[in-house]
Amino acid sequence: MELPVIDLSLYLESKEGKVSDLCGEVSRSLRETGALLVKDPRCTAQDNDRFLDMMERYFDSPSEFKRLQERPQLHYQVGVTPEGVEVPRSFVDEEMQHKLKQMPKPLQPSTPKGPDRKWRYMWRVGPRPSKTRFQELNAEPVVPDGFPEWKDTMDSWGYKMISALEAVAEMAAIGFGLPKDAFTSLMQQGPHLLAPTGSDLRRYGQEGTVFAGYHYDLNFLTIHGRSRFPGLNIWLRNGQKVEVKVPVGCLLIQTGKQIEWLTAGDCIAGMHEVVVTNRTTDAVKLAMEQNRFLWRVSSTLFGHIASDAVLKPLGHFAESPLASKYPPIYAGEFVEQELSVINLKGNKGQL
Ligand SMILES: [Fe+2]
Repeated sequence: MELPVIDLSLYLESKEGKVSDLCGEVSRSLRETGALLVKDPRCTAQDNDRFLDMMERYFDSPSEFKRLQERPQLHYQVGVTPEGVEVPRSFVDEEMQHKLKQMPKPLQPSTPKGPDRKWRYMWRVGPRPSKTRFQELNAEPVVPDGFPEWKDTMDSWGYKMISALEAVAEMAAIGFGLPKDAFTSLMQQGPHLLAPTGSDLRRYGQEGTVFAGYHYDLNFLTIHGRSRFPGLNIWLRNGQKVEVKVPVGCLLIQTGKQIEWLTAGDCIAGMHEVVVTNRTTDAVKLAMEQNRFLWRVSSTLFGHIASDAVLKPLGHFAESPLASKYPPIYAGEFVEQELSVINLKGNKGQL
């Protein structure tokens, strides 16, 4: 199954009221598939390549060097998280494990045997509130030595992806029959996080290796640039498992738990995993022939609802029969609850 690609320039250049069909397509795709492919004229393939080139060079550095950017005392909320620290929810959540066993075999996700075999880098993007109930630890951003372009590359790609996410959030709000700024007004000063992952295909390139075990994202919407190595599987609302193919120059959006809350489950958090497939190994062979790095980098940005905003079903979703499953809760409190399950308490990122 091919996911539709929405050209955001049609929305960005449009006059009000001319794009309701397009907005309807955005909300429908988020509702039915938990995912959406977009093309944003502000986020070019060259921007994505610049970011991936830098992150590949970083992840390919020796472990001892990368560990200089590790901040375990700050719960890894900035800097690098080595492989073997993040634990997939399906590995610790018994209720989820039970549900997985009931799925038909071909649709079942891969079974993680332990913590994820991927590195991650945490870089905060965007302004934070000066007064908040949920103060992030006062952690200085970490910049590795030998990467003078680091801050500029991270910030510029991060801001571009947030801009794309805001356009999608406006379109989704219109498509769901809410005011245009229903979501974006709650995203202001949210703890957005650019959190690229690096998976070592030289060490762990065997088909079936799980880089990120089956899970959902706890934030609002997640956005990724295109990865150079395939491997992402998503589960549609109808249970179908789909291997995602992101065309060159496109971005992938996935629904997180916070949009599920705001829509009273009309849109649910998309389940996904990253595993080495035969398409990944084909891409590895090609990369070896071309003498390229063998790191699978995902340029993930987690878009959040502001910590001090209240998560609750918005507008007409408050009348939904499922609304009582989504009681009001501060977004910051919700994030803390979710993180305590997956071993990352104090950390604003997630799997
Ligand atoms: Fe995820």
